[in-house]
Amino acid sequence: MTEIVVATRNQGKLREFRAVLGPENFKILSLDDIAFSGEIAEDGADYLENARKKSRSVAKACGKIVLADDSGIEIDALDGKPGVHSARFGGADLDSTARNEIVLKLLQSVQHPKRTARFRCVLSISLPDGRKYNCEGICEGHIAIRPKGKNGFGYDPIFLAAETGKTMAELGPEEKNRISHRAMALRKAVQECLMFF
Ligand code: IMP
Repeated sequence: MTEIVVATRNQGKLREFRAVLGPENFKILSLDDIAFSGEIAEDGADYLENARKKSRSVAKACGKIVLADDSGIEIDALDGKPGVHSARFGGADLDSTARNEIVLKLLQSVQHPKRTARFRCVLSISLPDGRKYNCEGICEGHIAIRPKGKNGFGYDPIFLAAETGKTMAELGPEEKNRISHRAMALRKAVQECLMFF
C-alpha cells in the first residue's frame, strides 16, 4: 500500500482525503502521524504557490510522498473574494459561523442569479527527490440566503452546490465527495499521477 502524507491540520479536509483515497488503496498519514510540528505560512500570491510550499516543506522533512491542498471560495459579486484568503476572511480569529455571517451580510442586496460562486481546490504533490505535480478541481454553485445543514466545514452551510439544490452542509460525506472541488482534484491526481507510484 502506498503511503501518502497529507499536509493539513484541517480535520474536515483530512476526512475527505481519507474517504476518497482510502478505497484506492493509499494509506493516508497526517502531519501528526509523522510528528511534523512546523508551521508553514500560507502567504503565497495564489493557491498553487501555497499548496506547493506546504507539500515541498513537508516532503523535505519526512522523505515521503506529500499531498497538500490550498482551496477557497470565489464569489462573483465580491470580485472573486475571498479566494486565496478564504481561511482568514473577516479576521483570523473568527469561527466559520461568524465568517459565513459576514459573507451573507455583504451579499444582502445581491439577488439570486447574481449570487454565483465556486469552490476551487489546487493540489500539489511533492516527492522527496524534488519531482512535483499539481492539479485542480472546481465545484460551481450559489451562495444561499441563509446557512443550512450541519455537515462538512467552513463555507459548506452557505454554498448551494449546482446539481443538488442543497447546501454542501446538507449533503452526506458520500454526496459531497461525489461533487466537491477537492474530490475532483483528488480523482485527477490518482489517475494522472498517484497510481503510478
Ligand atoms: P486553506 O486551503 O487551508 O487555505 O483553507 C481554505 C479555506 O477555504 C478553508 O479554511 C475553508 O474556509 C474554505 N474551504 C475550502 N474548502 C472548503 C470546503 O470543502 N468546504 C467549505 N469551506 C472550504
